[in-house]
Amino acid sequence: MSDVEIKRGLEGVVFTESELSYINGQEGKLYYLGIPIEELAEKSTYEEVAFLLLYRRLPTKKELEEFDQKLKENRAVRVEKIASFANYPKDAHPMAALRTAISELGLFDPKEEDTSYENLLETGISLIAKFPTVVAALKRLREGRLPLEPRNDLSHAGNFYYMLNGKEPSKEQEKLLDVALILHADHGMNASTFTALVIHSTASDLYSSIVGAIGALKGPRHGGANEQVLKMIQGIGDASQVPEWFKEKLEKKERIMGMGHRVYKAYDPRARILKRYAEEVAKAHGRTREYEILVAIEKEAEKYLAPKGIYPNVDFYSGVVYSDLGIPVEFFTPVFAVARIAGWVGHILEYTEKDNRLIRPRAKYSGELDKPYIPIEQRG
Ligand code: ACO
Repeated sequence: MSDVEIKRGLEGVVFTESELSYINGQEGKLYYLGIPIEELAEKSTYEEVAFLLLYRRLPTKKELEEFDQKLKENRAVRVEKIASFANYPKDAHPMAALRTAISELGLFDPKEEDTSYENLLETGISLIAKFPTVVAALKRLREGRLPLEPRNDLSHAGNFYYMLNGKEPSKEQEKLLDVALILHADHGMNASTFTALVIHSTASDLYSSIVGAIGALKGPRHGGANEQVLKMIQGIGDASQVPEWFKEKLEKKERIMGMGHRVYKAYDPRARILKRYAEEVAKAHGRTREYEILVAIEKEAEKYLAPKGIYPNVDFYSGVVYSDLGIPVEFFTPVFAVARIAGWVGHILEYTEKDNRLIRPRAKYSGELDKPYIPIEQRG
């Protein structure tokens, strides 16, 4: 192994094939099953995109109706579980609460250990349906309110909004949340998806894979960045202060959250779509401060970071959109998880179909060999 090349962070390492999503990092393009993300954001729904990622094709009208019905039937979370969530500490991070809640759902699922393809699909659909219910329940419990039961007369996004805010969304709000969910549904072999696959490849259960994925998504270098973006700009009064703030950040060698990506060396197409919506809602509701600060940061980044291939990623403008939908900052990453569960399950199904080979890389050994064992009394 002496001359082996180490790929720090597994950069550029390809370990499997997938047809779920394709990222063209040089041109800033993203496709789900070959369909440009812009098309899906404009014309599709989260339900349809979830079907696309699980079955790797678009559904017929009848298939979509049946799938939608199945999601609705699976939305409810047993009242004992909700009661258990109520005991979680209110100051714990919502992603830690979500991680625990999903683990609890597994603990009480009698079919948890059934790793057949059929059960993975059934449980996967159930989790896609339940994630919004769990996240909304965690939010309301944290606010000291009773969680709301899901409403089956509303769409996936519409019902999620309703359970979060206690009122039905307008058509625009429903579309906005739906688009945000579509844009976050999958993204190649990202850290949380890879985590899910590593766990799945040991022939462990689906809940363990998803719990692991939630843990990976929580990190500020991955999904946790959306929360950090708004926290980062809290101290900036208005856009005019940005150039100086940015200079200081660069001098201190601090990272600009919501910027940069392992694969994109161009503008993230999801950020482009979210920026448009962020501008719309900020202007419509007279809450432009945060949006204008972000635009000013982007302007500075064009000068100093773009030459290094660092541009806004999906997390840069999503917070402005989420805030407008009544989602508190600490719940931004759980909302990301509500979307990404479809991608996690889709990749697990696809990997299972291939062969579910154990993922087990190696590290180059850099220590010594055949050292003597020194008895503890002689170690000083
Ligand atoms: N701000 C300033 N400089 C940056 C940033 C940033 N956001 N991102 C990368 N860089 C710089 C690094 O300092 C480094 O510079 P150097 O070569 O002079 O030392 C260079 O770019 C390469 O950085 P790496 O960390 O090696 O790149 P990597 O591919 O590992 O990082 C990552 C990708 C983790 C996303 C990084 O860009 C980052 O930390 N961004 C901020 C957090 C963020 O927004 N994460 C969300 C990503 S999208 C998602 O997961 C949903």
